Amino acid sequence: MSETVAALDEYLERTATERLEEYQAFLRIPSISALSAHTGDMHIAADWLADKLRDIGIEHVEVSPTAGHPIVYGDWLHAEGAPTVLVYGHYDVQPVDPLDLWVRPPFEPQVENGRMYARGSADDKGQVHMHLWSARAWFETAGRLPLNVRYVFEGEEESGSIHFEEWVAANRDRLTADVAVISDTGFFEGNIPAICIGLRGLMYGQIDVTGPTLDLHSGGFGGNVQNPANALATIIAGLKTPEGVIDVPGFYDEVRPITPQDHAELALLPFDAEGFRDRIGVPALFGEPGLLPVERQGARPTLDINGIWGGFEGEGAKTIIPAHAHAKLSCRLVADMDPQRTYERVRDRIKALAPAGVNVEFTLIHTGMWSLTPTDHPATRAAAAAIQDVFGREPLYERGGGSIPAAATFASLLGLPVVLLGFANPDCQAHAPNESMILNNYERGIRTIARYWEALAAGLG
Ligand code: BES
Ligand code: ZN
Repeated sequence: MSETVAALDEYLERTATERLEEYQAFLRIPSISALSAHTGDMHIAADWLADKLRDIGIEHVEVSPTAGHPIVYGDWLHAEGAPTVLVYGHYDVQPVDPLDLWVRPPFEPQVENGRMYARGSADDKGQVHMHLWSARAWFETAGRLPLNVRYVFEGEEESGSIHFEEWVAANRDRLTADVAVISDTGFFEGNIPAICIGLRGLMYGQIDVTGPTLDLHSGGFGGNVQNPANALATIIAGLKTPEGVIDVPGFYDEVRPITPQDHAELALLPFDAEGFRDRIGVPALFGEPGLLPVERQGARPTLDINGIWGGFEGEGAKTIIPAHAHAKLSCRLVADMDPQRTYERVRDRIKALAPAGVNVEFTLIHTGMWSLTPTDHPATRAAAAAIQDVFGREPLYERGGGSIPAAATFASLLGLPVVLLGFANPDCQAHAPNESMILNNYERGIRTIARYWEALAAGLG
């Protein structure tokens, strides 16, 4: 072990309590980007982050406005001759409903069973916080970082990153770097260290079915009126076959086929289908026939209803034909699908499935691009070496099923290779009640990032 690494470890060991308290303070800010009632909290969280960056020694720290929530920027560029890394994370979190299923209140973080429980503990405030402390450990022990760093922390990732691309385009000049590092992914099933090498894109929209101007008595009118809720059910039922194949003309046209080599690599992953099924509590896994679960998760597109409402939902019975019914629908997209084209195809299919007697609209809410990252890039290899060093085993390479629009933005607008170096435990319950981060992942992750900077400085220079 080098002297630097020993000093970093010793510093991190000594400051563990202070770090956890600060982590909790960050998690107490309810930075829910989707809900306008939390706009003030978004600013509080952004300012909190900016203050921490300044305290550490990061320069040019700025809470940069966008048409939505602000982006926190800061840099430290004094490692002459060394590479520059662009670090991305997000300080916004998902809404917390259903609140009654949380064992501990979502914004009152608590440590139990070796985990930090709170909304955002893993996705992604915990991982942003890990970056702060990796940098802090370097400044406190060596007085400097071994490479140049630019931090970009977004406040709208969970809401589709709608203003991010515009901000990156406008700030291109101060975003020059050699590699982008994003810590917003997780380990493989069983909490096995992993580097993510693919993310899916997203097309998110809303179906609105409208019928009569008001709810109608289902006795007086039933039989003469198309029911919007029934119509919505007809439409949704037509979007997929009972086998789970998406029934939208042209939907799969651009999907990049899984090659025999992709299949062979994915088949080697130690995926425990029974354990996975048990953990999520379903009687059986379900998906496109003839594919591995890891292929369905990372290399094939999806079409899912995320929410559905309309008509009477109260206690007891109410005999009405509802005036309208709605659903939120999203598709996860893989290479080489185009989000806008997918929207148009799904919209046309919805219109074609709409029965007579109602009006049907499908409105686009947001899109995000898929991305694939190289396994053989020196920056990826250095990340793997840092993981091996700290976690004692080589990471697996997995394709994440989720989306991080920023990854594609960095690749397309800035031409950067992207390393997805995430540490969330697979059972972190991101987006669900009782989100948690395994503190061992958090602590070792901080040490991994700190060593990664040293490896990158040596390996990319
Ligand atoms: N951390 C996730 C992304 C993720 C999840 C990557 C699982 C790999 C595996 C991120 O915070 C997220 O949830 N993103 C949204 C983006 C969307 C709103 C465009 C998502 O995937 O739903
Ligand atoms: Zn998320």
